[in-house]
Amino acid sequence: MRVIQIVFSPTGGTKKAADLLTAGLGKLVQTVDLTDNQFQPMQLSGIDTCAVIAMPSYGGRVPALAAYRLKDIQAQGMPCVLLCVYGNRAFEDTLVEMEDLARTAGFEPAAAVAAVAEHSIMHQFATGRPDAADTRNLKEYGGRIAQKLAGPWEKGSLPIPGNRPYKSASGVPLVPKGDSSCVNCGTCAKQCPAGAINPSKPRETDKKLCIACMRCISICPQKARKVNGAMVSVAAMSIKKACEVRKECELWM
Ligand SMILES: Cc1cc2nc3c(=O)[nH]c(=O)nc-3n(C[C@H](O)[C@H](O)[C@H](O)COP(=O)(O)O)c2cc1C
Repeated sequence: MRVIQIVFSPTGGTKKAADLLTAGLGKLVQTVDLTDNQFQPMQLSGIDTCAVIAMPSYGGRVPALAAYRLKDIQAQGMPCVLLCVYGNRAFEDTLVEMEDLARTAGFEPAAAVAAVAEHSIMHQFATGRPDAADTRNLKEYGGRIAQKLAGPWEKGSLPIPGNRPYKSASGVPLVPKGDSSCVNCGTCAKQCPAGAINPSKPRETDKKLCIACMRCISICPQKARKVNGAMVSVAAMSIKKACEVRKECELWM
């Protein structure tokens, strides 16, 4: 099975989980990066090919920018696997929203997976995940999905958790800024998925465009970008209980 990954992974956790699932599923032939702010509409096709659509959960929903870019892909009936990656709190309506978006783009969802990766804002949650147990699970799921796709399979909606209408999208008011150790290298501006950083003034961030994805913090070579620590602590207190119990990867097909 040839696999096309369609991935929105600002800080790499979603991509790690997608790679593990893909390893069990088949051979990676193409990666479509939905964080690319030069992203152009495209058509996908191919015999014996399926797509892995991988997105993080933001507030229990698909990140709006990822949804917007996925709408620009035309898949012409290609089977797909939906992979939602979350930071061990909850993914709520992310998978059902992904299913709807995938169908609108012309994919035929054959399976859905939820996986946990280190929380990209509050790194004390799901630290080091995906770990060895996740690796085993995700590769095994990939193999099971490949078997399903190899035979005739019944098309239709997947038995995945989540509600329609979806919960309301809530923005996260954590806007990273550069401090005095910023050397104006422009790496953050180039790699911001939302185009929220002006390359000539990289210490500042456009609050209206920023999606709080934390990419700029994770890739800054000087470690010069930060969010308000007090606000992160308050947010961490509010989700601590929900994050306490380890959640495992899950497969629906
Ligand atoms: C803005 C934002 C909102 C998030 N909301 C949730 C959430 O509702 N539930 C959860 O468990 N994790 C949440 N997370 C954690 C991410 O889903 C998780 O860390 C994911 O692996 C990030 O993907 P990435 O590493 O590919 O960027 C959120 C992270 C961000 C940046």
